[in-house]
Amino acid sequence: MPLPSEMTAIEISSPGEPDVLRPAKRPMPTIGDEDVLIEVHAAGVNRPDVLQRRGSYDPPPGVTDIPGLEVAGRIVAVGAAVRDFEVGDEVCALVAGGGYAEYCAAPAGQCLTVPPGFSMVEAAALPETFFTVWTNVFERGHLQRGETLLVHGGSSGIGTTAIQMARAFGARVFVTAGSAEKCKACEALGAERAINYRDEDFVKVVAELTGGRGVDVVLDMVGGDYIARSIQAMAVDGRHVSIAFLQGAKVTLNMFPVMTKRLTLTGSTLRARPVAAKAAIAAQLREKVWPLLSQRELRPVIYKTFPLEQAAESHALMESSQHIGKIVLTVRGEAG
Ligand SMILES: NC(=O)c1ccc[n+]([C@@H]2O[C@H](COP(=O)([O-])OP(=O)(O)OC[C@H]3O[C@@H](n4cnc5c(N)ncnc54)[C@H](OP(=O)(O)O)[C@@H]3O)[C@@H](O)[C@H]2O)c1
Repeated sequence: MPLPSEMTAIEISSPGEPDVLRPAKRPMPTIGDEDVLIEVHAAGVNRPDVLQRRGSYDPPPGVTDIPGLEVAGRIVAVGAAVRDFEVGDEVCALVAGGGYAEYCAAPAGQCLTVPPGFSMVEAAALPETFFTVWTNVFERGHLQRGETLLVHGGSSGIGTTAIQMARAFGARVFVTAGSAEKCKACEALGAERAINYRDEDFVKVVAELTGGRGVDVVLDMVGGDYIARSIQAMAVDGRHVSIAFLQGAKVTLNMFPVMTKRLTLTGSTLRARPVAAKAAIAAQLREKVWPLLSQRELRPVIYKTFPLEQAAESHALMESSQHIGKIVLTVRGEAG
């Protein structure tokens, strides 16, 4: 069947509250030689989409203004230089934008095959958190088997992936989360101990759990005073990885423990990195993590799905922070 010349996509009509997300007609995306065109069946919703909607996280230069950082669907066209995929393949893809739409262009290097037995909804929930956790916890944080990881925001999309991946690679995992229900869910996913930060001081609990030694790696999305407190909770030679600053990026730090404990403070963003860097992460995931998904040792945690047209409702839910795991938009009926 010939492809249509236009499609339905969700636009950010102007920066603001969730109701600025509106369905609109847009031209079909065009693809370059190394890209594929995906007929989108489901698209993941991520916290950075909320920041973009509010006007504080613009797409990188040259990237569509349509929000959405991950999709799953069927390839309907391939660029002249694409060798690894063909029309008809079912893939999920990390994209720099454009996911909230009926069709989405993606660099072939950022596509991964839908794991066997996965629904399109489950597949769409994989790329953003799996790429982010892999590159931050394992590549920057160098988490090793037998080490300990502390994840702040354990019940987030990122957190639920980090718990499972770290456990699958033989680490002990502690998390912080904001309710008893969230803590229970994190422990069910494999966290050895979830700390309800409203009732307990994670610095004290981590000291007890590690016999005063501290954790080897911290994955932090909170920032603010968590950074100094996490440094207190870290072991000698520990690595602190920042991926967001939900409570603020500007902090005053006593740097002495960084010196005396020989700590590494690092972090990264994913969206603006070049295709080659993202393709390198995809290659690692394909080799080391996709087999675990195929064996169902890892799975995305789907909290709720919304039809594409209800993107505004999906953002309102995300901003309520009630969810545990991922929120996904369904774009075609067969998404399950
Ligand atoms: N650097 C990167 O490459 C990269 C890539 C993707 C995502 N991120 C970032 O990673 C974070 C998680 O993303 P996600 O999509 O997994 O988000 P999400 O599912 O919406 O989870 C965010 C969670 O953070 C917790 N939280 C702690 N302090 C908060 C605060 N001040 N405001 C709001 N929530 C707070 C909330 O749970 P509690 O009830 O436990 O507080 C909330 O559920 C986001 O900040 C996102 O921007 C970074």
